[in-house]
Amino acid sequence: MCGIVGYIGLNDAKEILLRGLEKLEYRGYDSAGIAVSNAGGVSLFKSKGRIADLRDIVDESTEAQTGIGHTRWATHGVPNVTNAHPHQDASNRFTLVHNGVIENYDKLRREELADVQLVSDTDTEIIVQLIAKFVFGGLTTEEAFAKTLRMLHGSYAIAMLDEEEPDTIFVAKNKSPLLVGLGEEFNVVASDAMAMFQVTDQFVELHDGEMVIVTRENVRIRTLNGETISREPYKAELDATDIEKGTYPHYMLKEIDEQPAVLRKIIQAYQNEDGELHVDRETLDAINGADRIYIIAAGTSYHAGLVGKEYFEKFAGVPTEVHISSEFGYHMPLLSDKPLFVFISQSGETADSRQVLVRIKELGHPSLTVTNVAGSTLSRESDHTVLLHAGPEIAVASTKAYTAQIAVLGILAALASEAKGKTIGFDLIQELGIAANAAQTMVDRKEEMEGLSFDFLELSRNAFFIGRGLDYHVSLEGALKLKEISYIQAEGFAGGELKHGTIALIEEGTPVFALATQEAVSPNIRGNVKEVGARGAKSCIISMEGIQEEGDRIVIPAVHPMLAPLVSVIPLQLISYYAALHRGCDVDKPRNLAKSVTVE
Ligand code: F6R
Repeated sequence: MCGIVGYIGLNDAKEILLRGLEKLEYRGYDSAGIAVSNAGGVSLFKSKGRIADLRDIVDESTEAQTGIGHTRWATHGVPNVTNAHPHQDASNRFTLVHNGVIENYDKLRREELADVQLVSDTDTEIIVQLIAKFVFGGLTTEEAFAKTLRMLHGSYAIAMLDEEEPDTIFVAKNKSPLLVGLGEEFNVVASDAMAMFQVTDQFVELHDGEMVIVTRENVRIRTLNGETISREPYKAELDATDIEKGTYPHYMLKEIDEQPAVLRKIIQAYQNEDGELHVDRETLDAINGADRIYIIAAGTSYHAGLVGKEYFEKFAGVPTEVHISSEFGYHMPLLSDKPLFVFISQSGETADSRQVLVRIKELGHPSLTVTNVAGSTLSRESDHTVLLHAGPEIAVASTKAYTAQIAVLGILAALASEAKGKTIGFDLIQELGIAANAAQTMVDRKEEMEGLSFDFLELSRNAFFIGRGLDYHVSLEGALKLKEISYIQAEGFAGGELKHGTIALIEEGTPVFALATQEAVSPNIRGNVKEVGARGAKSCIISMEGIQEEGDRIVIPAVHPMLAPLVSVIPLQLISYYAALHRGCDVDKPRNLAKSVTVE
């Protein structure tokens, strides 16, 4: 989704901003722009499409040491140059970038800006026009900035230049991520530390309702009412190799490959010196104190949540519901006496999940976030956080976060079981180690998966993924992976449900990927394969050593059946990757999608 960068220092601002925006490309965007300021005024460059297109139009000869930049993922108004940020007021004195959504922008436009000719369809332009109006009405820029912010309802991260104060960037944040980075004779602004990690690893976290006056030498944080706030910087713990592709052609392939290592890292991270599973006492107490768990998540994280439900119920005997976050508000269940809300989110920024968190906090219920990003909004705002330790996930299609989520949920459920004096019946640490080795075996079988992808999907317009029990959850994830990056229409189905309607779509050559890793339901899913086969489908059965049958196209190494999703998803990820690659799709940045979905 939208990204913000800003720089004020002694070096060429254009290049630092462009490189920063390149680091945010993975989040998904459809237009981009930068504005740089020097004694001669502000120069604005905006383009539709990629940062490479923006680079082409940036005037190399413009010298400036201050600037702001933005990647836009369209919400209000189509993706075009006019709607791209930065936006300016009618006099062009103020230039502003914004992430988030201003809910009362239409009211503000009608009531405050009726006589101003707006040029874009965005909610953002309202902000900059309002600030200009108040400055031209007699306020200082800082006063006008604060006054405008007090009028906004909704979410925002903002950076603004004032032509008459070329040595300052005005910054503000409310419910959208934004950081200020510190350096020697420079300071930066970024919606994600990764964007400015090229120049600093020292960042100051901003809280909702704060604004910041950033100069080359100083960072002054204040509330909208003028109280000064002092806050220590922290060191961003990013490993530069984590955010580079290295020799991989795509981040997605790199991240698929990292899954065995991520599983091993999780085993280490959640083990104490005695080799026993461990999380902090408060988190464990929160889980143990619950009579029902409500998992809230979206997309791939929702699919991981479905597996998590099986763990909490089968390992720990805690009734668990899984809800799609964007739907939760419409079907708020009757809550138990002692609910615990578990938010699963790779990014920790998903707005749909956050609005549920806000609501359940108002109701006074406890919350736990399982996320890959320490310090993310969901992590900060919930009572407890459990980290995935998967390292930055940059490809839009989630892969290693999914397996990490399942492993971490398994650990939490096993700990809950232990705390209740139960046993899950197997050694989870040992079995996770076996699953990590099996995952390694599967990522090493790329060539074979590429061949299967070609055989099954080369000419397909659609594909089906079926499974039963745990395999059903994996089939949903397999279908999502394929459709989001290759644009082949793909659906995941409970095997038994096909014959209640969807089987009508099966025709000669329709690809069906059937998961058969669960012994108890394997005969039934094989029955479904026969049913679709009789109607012309071309089936690829994915089974497991020990229960495989002749003709199964993919046999994963034997792992504990409850952990099979950690391994069986890998061939599906690889098959999707190669399908997208062979179709010439932009694997890491599929059309219309964003990595971090910060609008509801
Ligand atoms: C699919 C994918 C999305 C995310 C969803 C939730 O590959 O990545 O479906 O899973 O947007 O995002 P997070 O987990 O960041 O809350």
